[in-house]
Amino acid sequence: MEKIFYPLTRRRLRAGTHMRELTADVRLSHKSFIQPLFVEEAIPTTRAVKGLPGVPVDSSQSVLRNIENKLNNGISKFLVFPVPASKKEKDFDFSFARSVFSEIREHFGDDVWLAADLCLCSYTSHGHCGILDKHQVKLVNHLTVEVLSNYALQLAQAGADCIAPSDMMDGRIGAIRTLLDAMGYDDVSIMSYAAKFSSQFYGPFRDACHSSPNAKGLGNRKSYQISPLNRKDAIASAIRDEKEGADILMVKPATLYTDIIAGLKRETFKPLAAYHVSGEYAALESLAAQGLLNREAAHLEVWSALARAGADIIISYAAGQAKVWIDKMEY
Ligand code: PBG
Repeated sequence: MEKIFYPLTRRRLRAGTHMRELTADVRLSHKSFIQPLFVEEAIPTTRAVKGLPGVPVDSSQSVLRNIENKLNNGISKFLVFPVPASKKEKDFDFSFARSVFSEIREHFGDDVWLAADLCLCSYTSHGHCGILDKHQVKLVNHLTVEVLSNYALQLAQAGADCIAPSDMMDGRIGAIRTLLDAMGYDDVSIMSYAAKFSSQFYGPFRDACHSSPNAKGLGNRKSYQISPLNRKDAIASAIRDEKEGADILMVKPATLYTDIIAGLKRETFKPLAAYHVSGEYAALESLAAQGLLNREAAHLEVWSALARAGADIIISYAAGQAKVWIDKMEY
């Protein structure tokens, strides 16, 4: 009988679990995950967030239990978003944020690594990420950087290991680095939201942090966050942040921007973080809730895609499940 051969076969590498496991090109580990945490001053206990099942906004008490639970699940790195009770246009009070960091540090010591999101959007009455000019049509870059630098110093003093500026002003990385170094906080790292796009996918987050932009003259963040149509701006912004002293460069959102992760990987030796943001998480959860995909397998597929693109660090609202899911992942 005549046989037909296909010498260029690839299927032998896919034929069984052992082979797929052996030849996997990327590996996932819960050790590279960061869990975001929301902590709100005005609430006595946890509050649910629309679109984010399993991700509550915590009170300053409940966050300790939440962290305990994550530690029991192998997650020790956190990105903390403090949400203050009152909103203003300037002269912000950072005492609640300070107390959140010092309490978590006091409770858990060095068992946890704490990154602090650094932004003014949950502090401002207009929901923008900085100080607006008097006509409320644009952000005043230098005033915003000054306030943020001061805020960063207070967070470092309160025990943050890492400052993560998400405001997108020019020059903030350099200013924060200079101030931290001058004040003796040279060990505190900076994870820059370097390639942060102006995105629809921050919806549930803004609900969680009460931070939707609502100024009369400025209804969105397009004048400071990166356009989805501009790849060059994203890469250049990230390289600029690296030069100013960022230790980790973040791309955000994640799954729609894997081209940016892969592109940036070729331009830098700094570790890259991918933030699978609230809207991306919510989209996946909503498909899962309708029975249209398997939640666990879908998160694992997203994480695999981010690792493949070149992400060294993954920020995910499902980080708490990463260890369990990865350990029993089917190859
Ligand atoms: C603050 C900030 C935002 C996110 C992280 N930091 C929202 C925004 O820029 O409006 C989004 C995170 C998410 O959607 O999960 N500037």
